[in-house]
Amino acid sequence: MARLTILRYPDPRLHTIARPVADVDERIRRLADDMLETMYAAEGVGLAATQVDVHERLLVMDTSEARDHPLVLINPELTWCSEEMRVAEEGCLSVPAFYDKVERHASVKVRALGRDGEPFEMHAEGLAAVCVQHEIDHLRGKVFVEYLSALKRDRIRTKLLKKAREEQRDD
Ligand code: NI
Repeated sequence: MARLTILRYPDPRLHTIARPVADVDERIRRLADDMLETMYAAEGVGLAATQVDVHERLLVMDTSEARDHPLVLINPELTWCSEEMRVAEEGCLSVPAFYDKVERHASVKVRALGRDGEPFEMHAEGLAAVCVQHEIDHLRGKVFVEYLSALKRDRIRTKLLKKAREEQRDD
């Protein structure tokens, strides 16, 4: 397995719309395993392929407390969303050190293929519901900061660009 580089906002590649995975083959399984390793190393609860610059519909997540329940969702689709909405604080591995409140469906049902290529359906609520909606957004080219006000988003963009410039200088 290998750790992958995570794109950082405002990298324009984060706005690429992912295409469906055609075959759940060895390449896709290796990508899923590398994404899980990358996600655990970064202490995230979810990671979409978009964030590692692969523009195919694949995401990984683990919202378990013990961090021992890895999930691989290939070609995920929301099949049901609760009318009830909930506001929760979110962060993103592509937007390091920023957290803000986002309103999403309180629970959702998702259909996807697993790492073995077999279809399954998942009912997610709480953190898992937040996470899966956040990651599916990534596959549509949407980053959670786009739910925030233009003012907040610009502030985040400016700070992250400054940080990236500083890191480049240090290299
Ligand atoms: Ni994210």
